[in-house]
Amino acid sequence: MSNNTATMQESFPMTGGDGSYSYANNSYFQRQCANASKSMIEEAIAEKLDVQALSTKTFCLADLGCSVGPNTFVDIQHIVGAVERRYLALGLKSHIPEFQVFFNDHAANDFNTLFASLPTERRYFACGVPGSFHGRLFPESSIHFMYSSNALHWLSRMPDEILDKNSPLHGTREGAKELVVGGIMVLIMSTLPDGTSPYRSPPRASYDILESCLMETGIISEAQADSFNHPLYRPSLEQLTALVERNGCFSIERMELTNPASKLDGPMSGHAYTMHVRATIEGLVAKHFRSESVDQLFHLFFKKIENMSRQLELDPKEEIQRFVVLKRK
Ligand SMILES: C[S@@+](CC[C@H](N)C(=O)[O-])C[C@H]1O[C@@H](n2cnc3c(N)ncnc32)[C@H](O)[C@@H]1O
Repeated sequence: MSNNTATMQESFPMTGGDGSYSYANNSYFQRQCANASKSMIEEAIAEKLDVQALSTKTFCLADLGCSVGPNTFVDIQHIVGAVERRYLALGLKSHIPEFQVFFNDHAANDFNTLFASLPTERRYFACGVPGSFHGRLFPESSIHFMYSSNALHWLSRMPDEILDKNSPLHGTREGAKELVVGGIMVLIMSTLPDGTSPYRSPPRASYDILESCLMETGIISEAQADSFNHPLYRPSLEQLTALVERNGCFSIERMELTNPASKLDGPMSGHAYTMHVRATIEGLVAKHFRSESVDQLFHLFFKKIENMSRQLELDPKEEIQRFVVLKRK
C-alpha cells in the first residue's frame, strides 16, 4: 500500500449502526486505549485546570472524532465527573457549572446511532457538530476542554509533507482559537519512534495480510494495490513537540506513554481482531472498491489470521500510544 494522494476519500467513517460489524460493537481496543489514560485525565483536570479562573456557569467540552459510541459516552462521563470532583475538592459545590458536550465527527458519521444511544442518566446537554476537526468548528474562545481519542492520527487524505497545513495537528491551531485561555486539550493518539516518517505504513502484519486478501479476492490487482492507503499520520514525540511549539498557543503539560495492551485480557482472538479491523476500515474499503466484495474480503482475512493472533499484538517499540495534555496560553 502506498501514499498516493489522488484516490483518497474525503472521509471514511467507522461502520455505523449497532449490528454485529458495527464500530459500536467492535471498539474494545479503542476502549482500552482510553482506559489506559483514565487516571491521567483525572490528574490533568485536578492539576492543570484552574476552574476558579475559568469561572463559568456553562462548561463546554468537545470530543473530536467521537464516532458512534459507546466509548465517547464513557470518556465524556469520566471527564464531566472529574471536573465536578475538582469543584467539590475546592469546596465549590454550589459553583459546579452545567455541562454542554459537543460530539464532533465527519458529517458522514452515523450521528443517528450516536444520539439514539445517548445515556439517559447523563449530567450534560448533548449536541452534534458535524465537520472536520482540521477546520474551525466552534466560536472563538468557547471551549473549556477539548478531547480526542484515537482520531487525530486518522487522515481523510494523505498530505504532502509533515508540516504542511493539512497535517492533522494543524487542527491544534484551529483548536487554539476555540479554546478559552487556560482551557485544556487532551489527546490520546498513536505515535511512532523518533526518526520515523509519520506517514510510514503501519508495521503490523495485519496490513500485509489485508493487502494480500485484497489481491487474492480479485478486489484489486497488484498494480492497484499502490492506490490503496490506510491513511494514518503518526508523528514521533520529536515531531509532535515541534508542531506544538511551532503553533505557539499551548504549553505542553504532559506527554506520556501509555500501554493499552496492558488493559487487554491477553491477545485478541482472530475473530475479535477481524471485527476490530473491519469496523474501522470497512468504510474505506467499500468506498474505494466494490462494496459487495467486503464480506468475502474479511472472511479470507479471518481465515488467514485466526492462528496468528499472538503476532497481532502491538509492538510497543513500533507503535506508541501517547497521552498528551496541552494548555491554552
Ligand atoms: C477510530 S475512531 C475513534 C472513535 C472514538 N474517539 C473512540 O475512541 O472510540 C476515529 C474517528 O475519528 C473520526 N475522524 C477522523 N478524522 C476526522 C476529522 N478530520 N474530523 C472529524 N472526525 C474525524 C472518524 O470518522 C472516526 O469516527
